[in-house]
Amino acid sequence: MNFISQPTSKDLAPHLHPLYRPRRLRLTPAIRSMVSETSWRPEQLIYPVFVREGINEPQEISSLPGQYQHTLESVVDIARKARDLHVGGLMIFGVPRDEDKDDYGRYAWSDACIANKAIESIRSELGNDIVIMADTCLDEYTSHGHCGPLDENGDVDNDAALVCYQQAALAQAKAGAHFIAPSGMMDGQIQALRDALDTHGYENIGIFAYSSKFASAFFGPFRDAVGCELQGDRRSYQEDPANKREAIHETLLDIEEGADMVMVKPASYYGDILAQIAEFSPVPVGAYQVSGEYAMVAAAAERGWIDKKRTVDEQLICLVRGGADVILTYWALEAAEWKAKKL
Ligand code: PBG
Repeated sequence: MNFISQPTSKDLAPHLHPLYRPRRLRLTPAIRSMVSETSWRPEQLIYPVFVREGINEPQEISSLPGQYQHTLESVVDIARKARDLHVGGLMIFGVPRDEDKDDYGRYAWSDACIANKAIESIRSELGNDIVIMADTCLDEYTSHGHCGPLDENGDVDNDAALVCYQQAALAQAKAGAHFIAPSGMMDGQIQALRDALDTHGYENIGIFAYSSKFASAFFGPFRDAVGCELQGDRRSYQEDPANKREAIHETLLDIEEGADMVMVKPASYYGDILAQIAEFSPVPVGAYQVSGEYAMVAAAAERGWIDKKRTVDEQLICLVRGGADVILTYWALEAAEWKAKKL
């Protein structure tokens, strides 16, 4: 052998000899899969779904290609499909007609509320086969698009919002939700909702708290999905993306107030917060891969700029590695399908 034209590691870096070679653990698919530390299961995924008042056919959401506003019929079909693919749960969002909106979002707890009708239909069709979660908030239903009623200064009135959330949550519990998921970021919302549920005989309904929810640009496409025309922004009640301490504190408060599960939202770019919360949380931790995170990958994939399946798989693995026990994602059905087909 000619050591002059092919130098050995000994020639190049004598101090490293004998060279330890981490690549030995990566050389074949069988070795890689033997030492793989992290994977995700379809059962960990929660699929957010939209059900809309006043449409006859499912309508594709332009900013979320591949995602639909459903009718009462099609939402049950999609729930069945999710169950068959072993997706863990559904997060139900309602989309009212404009004329159903008012300053308080009263539609959320009215008998007409299509989200609650959807919960009822899915529960009666699927029973306990899939976990039914209800997003408890008002922004879809208020005329101004904020997550609670406004006071005379135009600020969201925290304590008035709590009373509205209680009404909304009781209607969702009555409809058959297994979990309610308050996402409005009002102070004291977990305690107020736990109280309301307990005093009305819903001690067994869980609370999945959107604990660390940031005032994020990544929610953009969601506003389209629910037809929310927000006046202003949510910075007076959602967290500042710059602040980690605030996220930890909010989560601790929610756990103290009785949250059964907590959440970090958005998921990507907030991995440091997710990892830290996962370290101390005594309850399961969720990560919400939000509309903007979905839209970016979907758009790049549509242009052939990114490999959709590999990207999504990698994102889900990274979130689990970062400490997520469950992941809310618009990819849930597609990803579960890939897994089922061993793609
Ligand atoms: C509030 C709510 C929002 C999302 C989930 N629940 C919107 C917001 O706070 O502005 C965003 C979800 C997403 O972007 O995918 N009801």
